[in-house]
Amino acid sequence: MSKLLFILVLTIGIVSGKYKYETKWFTVPLDHFSFQRNETFQIRYLVNSDYWDNGTGPIFFYTGNEGQIEVFAQNTGFMWEIAPEFKAKIVFAEHRYYGQSMPFGNKSLENENIGYLTAAQALADYADLIDYLQGDKVEPRYPVIAFGGSYGGMLAAYIRIKYPHLVNGAIAASAPIHMYPGMVPCEVYDRIVTSSFRIANEECVTNIRNSWSTLRTFAKSQNNSDWLYKNWNLCHPLKNSSDVQELVDYLQSMYESLAMVNYPFESNFLLPLPAQPVRVVCQYLNETLKDQKLIEGIGKVLKIYANYTGKTSCVNYKNGDSYENLDASGWDYQACTEMVMPMCTTGTDDMFEPNPWNFTQFAEDCHKKYNVQPRPQGARVEYGGARLQAASNIVFSNGLLDPWAGGGILNSISNTITAVLIIDAAHHLDLMPSSPYDPASVKMARNIHKQNIEKWIRQFREERSKQ
Ligand SMILES: *[C@@H]1O[C@H](CO)[C@@H](O)[C@H](O)[C@H]1NC(C)=O
Ligand SMILES: *[C@@H]1O[C@H](CO)[C@@H](O)[C@H](O)[C@H]1NC(C)=O
Ligand SMILES: *[C@@H]1O[C@H](CO)[C@@H](O)[C@H](O)[C@H]1NC(C)=O
Ligand SMILES: *[C@@H]1O[C@H](CO)[C@@H](O)[C@H](O)[C@H]1NC(C)=O
Ligand SMILES: *[C@@H]1O[C@H](CO)[C@@H](O)[C@H](O)[C@H]1NC(C)=O
Ligand SMILES: *[C@@H]1O[C@H](CO)[C@@H](O)[C@H](O)[C@H]1NC(C)=O
Ligand SMILES: *[C@@H]1O[C@H](CO)[C@@H](O)[C@H](O)[C@H]1NC(C)=O
Ligand SMILES: *[C@@H]1O[C@H](CO)[C@@H](O)[C@H](O)[C@H]1NC(C)=O
Repeated sequence: MSKLLFILVLTIGIVSGKYKYETKWFTVPLDHFSFQRNETFQIRYLVNSDYWDNGTGPIFFYTGNEGQIEVFAQNTGFMWEIAPEFKAKIVFAEHRYYGQSMPFGNKSLENENIGYLTAAQALADYADLIDYLQGDKVEPRYPVIAFGGSYGGMLAAYIRIKYPHLVNGAIAASAPIHMYPGMVPCEVYDRIVTSSFRIANEECVTNIRNSWSTLRTFAKSQNNSDWLYKNWNLCHPLKNSSDVQELVDYLQSMYESLAMVNYPFESNFLLPLPAQPVRVVCQYLNETLKDQKLIEGIGKVLKIYANYTGKTSCVNYKNGDSYENLDASGWDYQACTEMVMPMCTTGTDDMFEPNPWNFTQFAEDCHKKYNVQPRPQGARVEYGGARLQAASNIVFSNGLLDPWAGGGILNSISNTITAVLIIDAAHHLDLMPSSPYDPASVKMARNIHKQNIEKWIRQFREERSKQ
């Protein structure tokens, strides 16, 4: 199972237009890295120049991740909120093969067309777009700051690493650039999920850990399976053990998503949820529960997760990780090729059933689906892994409640590759619109981001004035 990174984070039911922008299109080559195929297509980007000083003002450039770009534009309030004081132009670029930036229309995700979906191709699109926004000038006029969260944060870091002549600095929020094979233990993600639940209350973790065997035993009788179908409002009855397995997988990804979007305010990033959703759901699991009572408790959690708005008619547990708000079907392919991120559970350090990472199995599944073999070391070799000493001007921020922090950079690498830890924050809270419920730690992180951005802009201007 490949976790949608951010996605999970991203399922937004398209967001009422809080921020205003123009939608534009930019022509890019289908293949930046060979001259064999000469087709082009258009990627979409969103622009706002209301605050921009077009003499020397910076360009704030969001390196779009796996989803429709509007979702990121509406959720990345930080860029919008600081643009006026920096007199910045705001640009959100959509990643190829997501949203409407489809090289082959609605056939883009078919196996014979999907091969041009790579981070390197997307970064090359963004590089061309940035050059265009500078007026294709040999001496660029405007400082460019990259922003991104999650996979978008990885791209923000990577574009600074690969194209330092185009991008002057990057705010890489919740970017799990160490999540590649061999870099961190595969159980780190679900260990953090579990500790986020433990912070809410210890009993919650014990109950969830016990619920797996209780549920499997319970569902063995047809009568009980029917009860679950009816009382949990499942879209499909539980007919056999593979249905039960799918339900178990769904519940596991429910807990993982809740930890990822455990924000201090009501949110709709991946899906509509109350403020502090982990605490809310753990209220139902705050004392030791057994048998039917435990099943009923888990059912209440499921109702909050799947039906917070009261508008979900049934729980589609066979729908895997797909979030209604984020159309990220291409991510599974990226996870099967270059973005290989091993995930496993031990059952001891975490509250899930033990489930080892099996690369052979993973590769077989990828081959079956897409006729590709993953390159597990590819992204590390391409982007530098943990060896970023030669890079500069990147801030890596991570919320310590965020399971993706397990693959993040938590220690500064140099004076100019720095880590910002945000104690009380889930997945890239620092990029989200400010809220009265924000913890002090996230306000501090945003101030540090602003100081770095100022510094990078100053450096650019000093260098330019020497020319
Ligand atoms: C693109 O390649 C095709 C096939 O090789 C060729 O017929 C066509 O003229 C080329 N188009 C352009 C714009 O170069
Ligand atoms: C900046 O904007 C003004 C007003 O729209 C325009 O006249 C001017 O040419 C622009 N300058 C540059 C460098 O684009
Ligand atoms: C795919 O796109 C084509 C051309 O735009 C359209 O005619 C067709 O109905 C679309 N198919 C689907 C399944 O959306
Ligand atoms: C079926 O399950 C329900 C709820 O778990 C229980 O109340 C009922 O007694 C069971 N009926 C039979 C025939 O097992
Ligand atoms: C289990 O039931 C589902 C329908 O609910 C069916 O699609 C699937 O093939 C069945 N699996 C097995 C192993 O019988
Ligand atoms: C668990 O939560 C319920 C409802 O919020 C409350 O009534 C109950 O006292 C709590 N139990 C414990 C052991 O804290
Ligand atoms: C969601 O809530 C509504 C209103 O309470 C209810 O009618 C519906 O059955 C619920 N759906 C699920 C999946 O629980
Ligand atoms: C991993 O998966 C392969 C292919 O399904 C299987 O043959 C092998 O036994 C598995 N390895 C482990 C350690 O489970």
